[in-house]
Amino acid sequence: MPAKERILIIGACGQIGVELTLALRKIYEPQHVIAADLRDEHPLLKDTGPYVTLDVMNREMLHVLVIRHHITQIYHLAAILSATAEKNPALAWHINMQSLIHVLEIAREERLHKVYWPSSIAVFGRGAPRQRTPQHTILEPTTAYGISKLAGERWCEYYHERYGIDVRSLRYPGLISYKSSPGGGTTDYAIEMFQAAVENRKYCCPLAPDTHLPMMYMPDAIRATIELMEAPAHRISLHSSYNIHAFQFSPAELAKALQHHAPGFEVCYQPDFRQQIAESWPESIDDSQARADWGWKPAFDLQTMTSDMLANLRAHQHQA
Ligand code: NAD
Ligand code: SER
Repeated sequence: MPAKERILIIGACGQIGVELTLALRKIYEPQHVIAADLRDEHPLLKDTGPYVTLDVMNREMLHVLVIRHHITQIYHLAAILSATAEKNPALAWHINMQSLIHVLEIAREERLHKVYWPSSIAVFGRGAPRQRTPQHTILEPTTAYGISKLAGERWCEYYHERYGIDVRSLRYPGLISYKSSPGGGTTDYAIEMFQAAVENRKYCCPLAPDTHLPMMYMPDAIRATIELMEAPAHRISLHSSYNIHAFQFSPAELAKALQHHAPGFEVCYQPDFRQQIAESWPESIDDSQARADWGWKPAFDLQTMTSDMLANLRAHQHQA
């Protein structure tokens, strides 16, 4: 019953938040989809629905917002991503964990209908199989970000089991998009490589050429998120976080795909601290449980994503 739901999106100006907010405002009454972030409102959100400045670390402010707007669902997207987290691990732990506890506690007190919180492929570490990494396997993350995501998954399941909160979550792979800039992840290199290719610039990649990582195009990630959240409760067997997968590539393979469209595009390789992060993550993911439970299936592969990204980035370039 979309009309009865009132949704708060925390971190709405980020790479995922902008597109998710716009997608939810197409399904629900736009006035009932409240976008919130620390930053100024993203230009693409302007005049599409309500916007509130919020620091999710301020529990009281969050609580008042939830009560004042009669919020029934929260999408909590604010976090410190992997590469930024390695520069200040204690801060990343504090923000990623405390903000989630604030959201879960308010969900418990105000009896919210649903909470969405994203996890990541970063929950896996070197002990897990790197190909078709299973849903249930060794979880020994070696990054501050991965440790916070694994602990977050445990808290989500705890609040579901102990308090009956309908928390839902996806372990996103690296997300590729062109509408809103990425915010400090290890997989952001892929977006930077696209941007360099359309601007006819040489790109120096912070990962080695043969470093394979799981990736997904943003339209698939947004659809997965909404399909998961709209699925009937009996289809959801996991309240920690679901593996989802679309495709995998290495920097050298992405460079080749881009050179097919932009002959002469040059890439050099200067691996930095992000190489170690990437090497601790899977190369591909087994998402059979998401497929079986709620029917997940990606629409884009590397070729179709590449063509669509380039067409959109070039269209934006001509408009600018
Ligand atoms: P992002 O960094 O682009 O956006 C996060 C947003 O949160 C930013 O707009 C930021 O201003 C906001 N924010 C930060 N601190 C805040 C605070 N204290 N109060 C309110 N807002 C605050 O991140 P994203 O890529 O959109 O990721 C969203 C979520 O998805 C994160 O939990 C991230 O770990 C997860 N995720 C992302 C990817 C990816 O490839 N983008 C992959 C896996 C998981
Ligand atoms: N894309 C994210 C990152 O690189 C994975 O969670 O941090």
